[in-house]
Amino acid sequence: MIIDILTIFPEMVASPLEESILGKAVERGLIAVRILNIRDFATDRHQTTDDRPYGGGSGMVMKVEPLVRAIAHARAADPPARVILLSPQGRPFSQDVAWELSRERHLTLVCGRYEGVDERVRRHYVDDEISIGDYVLTGGELPALVVVDAVARLLPGVLGCSESTAEESFAHALLEYPQYTRPDIFEDHQVPEILLSGNHAAVRRWRRQQSLRRTWQRRPDLLKEADLSDGDRELLAEVIGDDGKSTP
Ligand SMILES: C[S@@+](CC[C@H](N)C(=O)[O-])C[C@H]1O[C@@H](n2cnc3c(N)ncnc32)[C@H](O)[C@@H]1O
Repeated sequence: MIIDILTIFPEMVASPLEESILGKAVERGLIAVRILNIRDFATDRHQTTDDRPYGGGSGMVMKVEPLVRAIAHARAADPPARVILLSPQGRPFSQDVAWELSRERHLTLVCGRYEGVDERVRRHYVDDEISIGDYVLTGGELPALVVVDAVARLLPGVLGCSESTAEESFAHALLEYPQYTRPDIFEDHQVPEILLSGNHAAVRRWRRQQSLRRTWQRRPDLLKEADLSDGDRELLAEVIGDDGKSTP
């Protein structure tokens, strides 16, 4: 997959892409990330990328011409890019959206700054708008990195065989079960016995029930979307019964 990041702060996005799993994915050619400096597409000799808003008001707005030229440059590549503007007004990013984007061959992520981008960019030159949450950041660089990270780890070969996306949180609209590693006792906190039992079927059942419990306790909204089997419903009924009993 090719991913372009269009930004006026290229250094802000460069180093996270050199580290750990993302860095290895880039090194191994599983993703090619191109960081394009929007200033290089400015048309004046001062390389201006922002200007005062028409109608007055505070702050600056990112100019249409450099952005559109940068987007055209990204789109000219083969295969053609799906162009996404990072914006607090976009559709909410989620694991489902990450899976959807992971099926693209070329993504172009446009990072706004200041008061945002000239509305004509949004209306006529991008294919999609994504928000990473209901809060306002100073720029689209961190949101772009969030999208790259969430999408890249879904691409074949990016995670090692020891890491799995099949059971983690949101994989089936459920949160993941709790995880433990050695030592089995730390201070007086013990790892659940069942995990040390070597009984694989019992461990699987325990994990599934923990996953249902967590989701029920923390994100009951997700359970409405979950595709639960009859067995899951029985496990969940036990959880709800137990938790009901332990509630004072
Ligand atoms: C300060 S924000 C602009 C906010 C804009 N004035 C508004 O009220 O919608 C500057 C840039 O940061 C990025 N940004 C800020 N918060 C974001 C979020 N929650 N999700 C995605 N991008 C965000 C966008 O690229 C945006 O153009």
